[in-house]
Amino acid sequence: MTGFQRAATVLACDEVPLDRIAAAEGTPLYVYSAATIAARYRAIDEAFAGCPHAIHYALKANSTLAIARLLRALGSFADVNSGGEIEVAMRAGFTPAQIVFTGVGKTPAELAHAIAFGVRSINVESPGEIDRIDALSRQCRARTKIAIRVNPDVDAKTHPHISTGLKTNKFGIPIAEVPDICRRAQAMDGVRIVGLHAHIGSQITDLAPLERAARALVALARDLRDSGSAIEHLDIGGGLGVSYDGKPVPDAADYARTVLPVLRESGLSIVLEPGRHILAPAGALLTRVVDVKEADAGRWFVVMDAGMTELIRPMLYNAFHRIEPVVKTDAPLVSTDVVGPLCESSDTLGKDRMLPKPEPGELYAVLDAGAYGSVMASNYNRRMLPAEVLVEDNAWRVIRRRQTLDDVLALES
Ligand code: LLP
Repeated sequence: MTGFQRAATVLACDEVPLDRIAAAEGTPLYVYSAATIAARYRAIDEAFAGCPHAIHYALKANSTLAIARLLRALGSFADVNSGGEIEVAMRAGFTPAQIVFTGVGKTPAELAHAIAFGVRSINVESPGEIDRIDALSRQCRARTKIAIRVNPDVDAKTHPHISTGLKTNKFGIPIAEVPDICRRAQAMDGVRIVGLHAHIGSQITDLAPLERAARALVALARDLRDSGSAIEHLDIGGGLGVSYDGKPVPDAADYARTVLPVLRESGLSIVLEPGRHILAPAGALLTRVVDVKEADAGRWFVVMDAGMTELIRPMLYNAFHRIEPVVKTDAPLVSTDVVGPLCESSDTLGKDRMLPKPEPGELYAVLDAGAYGSVMASNYNRRMLPAEVLVEDNAWRVIRRRQTLDDVLALES
């Protein structure tokens, strides 16, 4: 068993008690399980073993260098979304040929970098971007490999803020326009179309939309081949969800069983860009109770030392994360709103939670916070970014130290 388990009364990460880690490193603190990351990466890799494929881990889910390096050591490639993520990927040891570069607003400087490095493919979002890549590539006599990001107009049935495959979303090129755009791009000296890409959203727990998107890509690839384009790969993006509330959701094997029969018809190799599915359950945010006060009869506010600055998902997407005391107590269960310390009423980690009546100083874990947790943290209210530790082989090490005020003020004059 890997991950966050309760041994007797204390919650542990791969058998290391979380109260020991928090006592040494302070809170708020992100804790990750290397064994869980490895197990979840391998589960996807094995599920797709029946088809030539490459997993390009989506760095945006968590790009702490040690995490990126761990994924690389497992055999993963990288999906990046900015110049910063390209740099992090390179410093983590990924070669340019192992990087796909996605992003709806790549600047000329970011494109020039990616072209100079020679990434595996730039996933292009518009006809204008193809023109820009063509021009920049010709300037340095390069022929840049691109994949067309297709907007298949498929409803991913997830939270609207993380839904990207509808024609009302800003992402990709409407599928009906792709053949013409490809014909135009084929005549360009600076680009070579090597793939088709679709990413319809994140935290997807209904596999039907993912299957529909895969079908659309395969049909489009067939049309393009008939008209003379040599597509090499289909990039099916990320998006596979996780269970935040403990209810069953499809796993990597279910996902592969659904999309592989469709994808195999294309005879092309597959690129996957999973982020959340690998990282979310592999991380927890540790936070201590600062104050407990009665809201109204029988309901309590539990004020934590972490809030929207450390984990914004509950506020931004109404996301549910389990919140558990690290050391179980016999205190009677009370109804609580678990809130952060910031000057915003939206600063709430969990509403209406039944918890053993918390006491100041007690340690809590916010679970399934490994993806889109620390990467979305901010300095709002002049709060410092939390530290992060990685648990590996029954020991932990700090992979990002806690930010100091001097770190923050170093940018200011
Ligand atoms: N590929 C592309 C092009 C993407 O835009 C994304 C995520 C991924 C791959 C990885 O998707 P995943 O496998 O992690 O679902 N901050 C939000 C999630 C935003 C996802 C953005 N794109 C959240 O906390 O739920």
